[in-house]
Amino acid sequence: MPTRDDPELSPTAGKTPGDHDLLLTRREALAAIALGTAALVAGCSGLDRIIDPSPHDVSASGGPAMTIPVALAGNHTTIPLPYAAGSLNGLSERMVTSHHENNYGGAVRNLNRIEQELARVGADTPPPIVAALRDRELTFRNSKTLHEAYFANLGGNGRRSGAIEVELAAAYGTTARWEEQMRLTSLGLGGGSGWAILAYELDTGALRTVAGGNHTQVLAGSVPLLVLDMYEHGYQMDFGAAAAKYIDAFFANVNWDVVNHRLERARRASAVLKGA
Ligand SMILES: [Fe+2]
Repeated sequence: MPTRDDPELSPTAGKTPGDHDLLLTRREALAAIALGTAALVAGCSGLDRIIDPSPHDVSASGGPAMTIPVALAGNHTTIPLPYAAGSLNGLSERMVTSHHENNYGGAVRNLNRIEQELARVGADTPPPIVAALRDRELTFRNSKTLHEAYFANLGGNGRRSGAIEVELAAAYGTTARWEEQMRLTSLGLGGGSGWAILAYELDTGALRTVAGGNHTQVLAGSVPLLVLDMYEHGYQMDFGAAAAKYIDAFFANVNWDVVNHRLERARRASAVLKGA
């Protein structure tokens, strides 16, 4: 299990600098110091600026002109919750709002900052610095993607129906057996950090239930259909260490229409990839 369970948080987001999940690795610290990214250590101040997504000159002080690639524009914005934060059954408005604004929002802001730093690397940048930035880029990019999938598959009544019901029964014998697998997978992440994911494997069309840690351990070549955030920041405020109660609340709020829509899109994508 990863030792830093909330890398997207800044020290100003309700934590103290001594918290274990805010510690940077030696490699990250080296990157931050060498590139002057003090904000990554000291907080998110100044990370919210929006820059023009089109390529443009970033040299403002007489140095060589550099052009920001579109892929590293650093202008990602957060997606609002598709429901009122206080409308979920058994999940408090305070916790959902904090999760969305601080953890998900922090990942988006830090991804922007990392992209801006990556846009500045050049031939004289030490390879370990680039490696550290790429490590953080993957963490924050996946955190952004998975948080968006997580929040979007909540807001429903928890009653499973449609094509996913048929697919789960075919894959696991019964849908109850799958739910048991998903719950136990999630519970295994309790007290630590990670994601429990029902995924659609594009090359085989199979449903897979996986556990991923540190925002980076996802199933290659798959599309997430149902995403459950098992980082402690997702439940501790309401449930303390009672992760099983959070999992109950999660299942009570799943929007299975969203899951069915994702399944349909994944099936179509798989068919296109297979040339059908
Ligand atoms: Fe989270």
